[in-house]
Amino acid sequence: MRIYSRILGTGSYLPEKRLTNADLAAELAHQGVETSDDWIVERTGIRARHFAADAQGSSDLATEAARRALTAAGISAEELDLIIVATSTPDMVFPSVATMVQHKLGTAGCPAFDVQAVCSGFIYALTIADSMIQSGSAKRALVIGSEVFSRILDFKDRTTCVLFGDGAGAVILEAADKPGILATDLHADGKHKDILCVPGHVNRGGILGDPVLKMDGQAVFKLAVGVLEETARASLAKANLTDADIDWLIPHQANIRIMQSTAKKLKLSADKVVVTVDQHGNTSAASIPLALDTAVRDGRIQRGQTLMLEGVGGGFTWGSVLLRY
Ligand code: UT7
Repeated sequence: MRIYSRILGTGSYLPEKRLTNADLAAELAHQGVETSDDWIVERTGIRARHFAADAQGSSDLATEAARRALTAAGISAEELDLIIVATSTPDMVFPSVATMVQHKLGTAGCPAFDVQAVCSGFIYALTIADSMIQSGSAKRALVIGSEVFSRILDFKDRTTCVLFGDGAGAVILEAADKPGILATDLHADGKHKDILCVPGHVNRGGILGDPVLKMDGQAVFKLAVGVLEETARASLAKANLTDADIDWLIPHQANIRIMQSTAKKLKLSADKVVVTVDQHGNTSAASIPLALDTAVRDGRIQRGQTLMLEGVGGGFTWGSVLLRY
């Protein structure tokens, strides 16, 4: 009999410090950087974001989100047999955030590793966990997206520093005899590596290159709207479903205009799109599980509904996961 994977529970965590656009604009003004609530809302839909405290790393945010997902799933950390964390902002070069989360949850033994696909990271991680469950090598997986992008922002660059926030989202995936995950679709094209990157790296005890985020926003925008439609259609085709079968579109939360354009291409009304970018900003690999958990907890997402999760990000990477919740 074929094994599928299904979501048993979700959780998320946002750091306490919340900055509205006005708060951020006031902080930036002290450094001679000019921006406004009007510009940010009009171009991106973002109204606020959360920033982690100095002492908080990705593993702290991830552990909180994981605890909430475990509680929602009604299982203990000892029952997990796989932990995957999607992040581009790990606590350290190594070990992985996943091993730190494992330890902070008070468990040990099961495989734990990180996935690095920037804003598509959670889609990649969920796909890997689904494959491992389908193959029989795992039964209960914890899949997390966690980021502290505030650590890699250049607060002198107004074209990027107003866009991102920190947070974490998690799901518990469990083996089941019915789907669950209906189809997955992953892609990458390394020729676009320079349009969204953090070029600095550790070298001989120092940092070589600029360790802050660089983005050609318009190039990213153009690529994103194309590939998000393509990957959604690819997952639908694999599952023999159509646009009309989607109950909720949960896209990577980067820019409301990209999300609206994707929804239009998929002939979905705006009220079928889960939007959290207004309150979270772009939290990279955390954005999709954060949006998913938000809509599960506020009751919009119901058991049996069909969800299209999709992401796009640096690499360039993109992909989608179509699932029955
Ligand atoms: O998670 C990874 C995926 N990332 C994305 O999906 C991001 C995709 N790109 C975007 O979301 C948009 O391209 C941005 C929001 C980044 C930029 O929006 P845009 O409509 O492409 O604006 P722009 O870059 O063309 O800039 C327009 C103007 C410029 O001024 P001039 O040259 O017209 O005088 C910028 O200097 O807006 C100016 N500007 C700002 N003004 C106030 C840029 N950033 C700001 C700012 N505040 N923060």
